[in-house]
Amino acid sequence: MRMIVTTSHKPSRQQVLRALKLAKRLNVKYVSRRHLVSRKGEALLIVESDKISALKDGKRLFFHPSLAIIRRANIRSGERDYLIESLNLRGNERVLDCTLGLGSEAILIAHFLPNGKVIGLENSTLIEIIVEEGMKHMKYSQKWVEEAVKRIEIFKADYKEYIRKTKEKFDCVYVDPMFEHPSYNSSAINCLRPFADNSTVDANDIEIMKRIAKKRVVVKARWNDSIFERYDFDHVIGSPKSGIGYGVIVI
Ligand SMILES: C[S@@+](CC[C@H](N)C(=O)[O-])C[C@H]1O[C@@H](n2cnc3c(N)ncnc32)[C@H](O)[C@@H]1O
Repeated sequence: MRMIVTTSHKPSRQQVLRALKLAKRLNVKYVSRRHLVSRKGEALLIVESDKISALKDGKRLFFHPSLAIIRRANIRSGERDYLIESLNLRGNERVLDCTLGLGSEAILIAHFLPNGKVIGLENSTLIEIIVEEGMKHMKYSQKWVEEAVKRIEIFKADYKEYIRKTKEKFDCVYVDPMFEHPSYNSSAINCLRPFADNSTVDANDIEIMKRIAKKRVVVKARWNDSIFERYDFDHVIGSPKSGIGYGVIVI
């Protein structure tokens, strides 16, 4: 994907410097917004005053913790959260989130780890940068989100390589790949789609995850995803209404 770094209109000197630094780090071109002519299929990484966003073919992506905030509110009002249930956390674990995406689930998991940590991997450079920078610079209106993001460490990596190379062990390993049969109902995932890695998780990957996990491996997929036929999980939980299941392996 061709990528260009720019700023929003009428940028401050600070924004321009940040954009230049980002372009150098990514080894891509910086073009000042005034001189920018964007082409189809090209991704723009835009340094704004308060965040970094990506724009491609009219689709815009930026970091926001709103989904984590909704899910935590639902849990507090007594609703079940199948991800949190499936991880069975005590609060001091190290959790490897293989597919960080917009980081909503990483934030929710980190909230339940007051003495633990989430290591988040993301293979899309654009998504990784937007979320890493967003988490670092956002002015949070909720204290618990501000605290949770401090317990998340992010790496640009393909989890398929990472899990095969790492010498580390994690208490839990979680993977939430792009769905095999997308539903297009989630606006957050729809924004992610043009920038995301669409690779699927396979049985070999899960076997490797089992080797590096001390307690649990959890795989999220839609109920009609073939992974639930291809892999024999210890149990699968989730609500039939949402159409999403969490396949759980207890180590
Ligand atoms: C469905 S989204 C994850 C959403 C995430 N759980 C959240 O709460 O926002 C899947 C993400 O995983 C990333 N991804 C897919 N395959 C990957 C791989 N092999 N290694 C690392 N990241 C991957 C995609 O780029 C995408 O951002």
